[in-house]
Amino acid sequence: MKTLFLTEKEIDTAAEIIKNGGLVAMPTETVYGLAADATNGSAVKKIYSAKGRPSDNPLIVHVSSVEEIYPLVTSFPENAKKLIEAFCPGPLTIVFPKSDVIPSEISGGLDTVAIRFPSHPVARELIKASGVPLAAPSANLSGSPSPTSADHVKKDLDGRIDAILDGGECSVGLESTVITLVPEKPVLLRPGGITHEMLESVLGEVLVDPAVLNPLKEGQRVSSPGMKYKHYAPKAKVVLIKSDDNNYYKYLAEHSTGKMVALCYNEDLSNIKDIHCISYGKKDDYTEQASKLFDALRKIDEQGYELVYGRCPGTDGVGLAVYNRLIRAAGFEVIEIE
Ligand code: TXA
Ligand code: MG
Repeated sequence: MKTLFLTEKEIDTAAEIIKNGGLVAMPTETVYGLAADATNGSAVKKIYSAKGRPSDNPLIVHVSSVEEIYPLVTSFPENAKKLIEAFCPGPLTIVFPKSDVIPSEISGGLDTVAIRFPSHPVARELIKASGVPLAAPSANLSGSPSPTSADHVKKDLDGRIDAILDGGECSVGLESTVITLVPEKPVLLRPGGITHEMLESVLGEVLVDPAVLNPLKEGQRVSSPGMKYKHYAPKAKVVLIKSDDNNYYKYLAEHSTGKMVALCYNEDLSNIKDIHCISYGKKDDYTEQASKLFDALRKIDEQGYELVYGRCPGTDGVGLAVYNRLIRAAGFEVIEIE
């Protein structure tokens, strides 16, 4: 298949492809999504084969207005209204009980559906021009980090999808926050740009699913199927170091080998000598770390490193989302130095 490369001015061409049951990679404020008509089961099926994604991992449905949500769900809780009022359009996905409009290919056998109202103008225009809600997972091959630029999408999916709509770099850089309102108490399933603290400021107590911070135990039931799959881990072994600056530098110096890289903060670059470094943002700026992390992880593989010693971010605010992705890349291996 030949993949078309489209600019923001060619949204109508992209919408035609969607209407004809094709696949278009679209920019959103979080990461690029691989979009298909959410009401067309056979179009949705193609997403799974293009990405190499297991079919029981459900997809997020993207809409461009609140009204579009009503036909897709069987109940619209008061808490959903509050969240939408506070944070949408934006990097938040809400899980609702699903209606029959949602084909089984989207929901992976669950009786719920995850819905998101993106703020990126190109994504919103594409949804409107297509005239249907769009099912879209991140536009990477399963096993790669989510793409935050059209170039990342091209590296993974060129020749496997109909078109890539280039909308520049994604501002948030990590996938959306996922919250479910189906259980009695709301549960945070995946941390993202809308933080746990922000959710609690609107809803009161929001539980954090154990899979956000901990490895799954054998046979453990998961609330969000994506959690049970091995998330992106570079081919290199990744270890996180939880320490102050000097202990990090000392650890690097004592454990330095040829194909090792330090995944560090910008401020560390001038302090680390004779060791390869890739930085993922300023030390106290979780928002910048979120936007740079996936590009940094892609570089680690492109540059062929075998061992990564990464700085371990905090778990407050957007830090929780950065930590959640990094700890998975590290297979939960953290060395704590007092
Ligand atoms: O920012 C994002 O959310 C991006 C952009 C493209 O919108 N999309 C994205 O999709 O990250 P994906 O498929 O890579 O991740 C969706 C996550 C998965 O972990 C999946 O298991 C979970 O959401 N999910 C989807 N539907 C669900 C449902 N009904 N209940 C619980 N979890 C669900
Ligand atoms: Mg994904």
